[in-house]
Amino acid sequence: ANERESMYLVSEFAQAHFSEMLWESELGKAIGMTYFKERGFTDGTIKKFGLGYCLDQWDGFTNAALDKGYKLHYLEKTGLTIVKEDANNPNNPRKFDRFKGRVMFPIHSMSGRVLGFGGRILTNDKKAAKYLNSPESDIYHKSKVLYGIYYAKQAIAKEDNCYLVEGYTDVIQFYQRGIHNVVASSGTALTPEQIRLINRLTKNITVLFDGDAAGLRASLRGIDLILEQGMNVKVCTFPEGEDPDSFAKNNDLEELSQYLQDNSKDFIQFKASLLVKEAANDPIKRADTVRDIVHSISKIPDRIQKEIYIQECAQIMNISEAVLFNTLAQISKKDI
Ligand code: CTP
Ligand code: MN
Ligand code: MN
Ligand code: MN
Ligand code: MN
Repeated sequence: ANERESMYLVSEFAQAHFSEMLWESELGKAIGMTYFKERGFTDGTIKKFGLGYCLDQWDGFTNAALDKGYKLHYLEKTGLTIVKEDANNPNNPRKFDRFKGRVMFPIHSMSGRVLGFGGRILTNDKKAAKYLNSPESDIYHKSKVLYGIYYAKQAIAKEDNCYLVEGYTDVIQFYQRGIHNVVASSGTALTPEQIRLINRLTKNITVLFDGDAAGLRASLRGIDLILEQGMNVKVCTFPEGEDPDSFAKNNDLEELSQYLQDNSKDFIQFKASLLVKEAANDPIKRADTVRDIVHSISKIPDRIQKEIYIQECAQIMNISEAVLFNTLAQISKKDI
C-alpha cells in the first residue's frame, strides 16, 4: 500500500479502537459514554457517527496500534501519536497519544474514509483547548473537508438545500432529530473548496449561527464566498446562548423545522437590516455600511439578481438606488 493508504488504514484502526474503548472499557463506559448520554446522543447515533473515547493514558492507543503492527511513522504522520526524541535514549523516542482523555469525533471524506479526528475535553478547564483536531497531513486538509458530508450528501441532494453549522455536535444533534442535510465547517473560516463540495449537490445553503453576536459578525464576510459561487444563501440565528445543538436537543422535530422555516432569511436582506441597525444615525458608519453591503452584492454573478438586491437594499437602508449602483460600479472596477 502507498503512503496515503497506510495513513487511512491507521486512522481507521484508530476510529475502531476509540469506539471499542467507548463501548467496552470500564473507563470508557463510565466517562466517555456518560458524557455522550448527557449530551442526549442515543446508542444508534453514537454508532452511526463512529464516536469514541481515547483513554486518559499517555500512550495506551499508540501501544495498541504498534502491537497490531501499525508503524510509528504513520501514527506520527497522521498526528495520532506525538513523538519526542529522548536525548538519553536515542533509539527509543517518547510517544504520546495526541487525544489522551478526550471523546472522539472521526472526520470522514465524502466517500466515508476516516481523514482525521476532533477530540473534545470533558472538563471545563478553560486553559486547555475545548476541541483538539488532527493536524494537517497528506490525508487531512481541513480547508477541504466538511464535517458530516458523508452522512449528509444524499439528503442535501434530495432536499436541495444544505444547512451549514459551526460544530460537530450541531451536525449530530440535527441528524438525530431527523434533519440529515447538515454539515459543519468545524470552527474554521469557510473556504471556497468547502463551498464547492456543497455546490456539487445543491445551489442552496442555509447558514445557521450560534446565538452569540461575536461569532455572527466575524462570519458574515465568509458568506461572500458562497455568493461568489452563484449559490443562494439564507441565514438563521438562534436565541442568545443557544446553538443548533442545544436547540435541537430541547425541541422536537416539528418545533425545530418550524423554527428554521420562520427564521431563515435571505442573506443580503438580513445583512442589510443588521448593518442599518448597527449604524443607526451615524453618517460615517452608514457610509461604511453601504460599501459593505454593495461589496457583498458585487460578488453575485447573476446581473438580474444584483439589480434586484440593489433595489431591495435601497429600501432597507433608506438610500437612493443611484448611490448604490454607483458604488457597485466603483467596487466592480476596483476588483478587476
Ligand atoms: N472548535 C475548535 N477548537 C476550539 C473550539 C471550537 O476546533 N477550541 C471548533 C469545533 O469544531 C467546534 C466548532 O469550532 O465544534 C464550534 O465551536 P463552539 O460553538 O465553541 O463549540 P460547540 O460545537 O458548540 O461545542 P460544545 O457544544 O461541545 O461545547
Ligand atoms: Mn493531499
Ligand atoms: Mn460558537
Ligand atoms: Mn456552538
Ligand atoms: Mn454547542
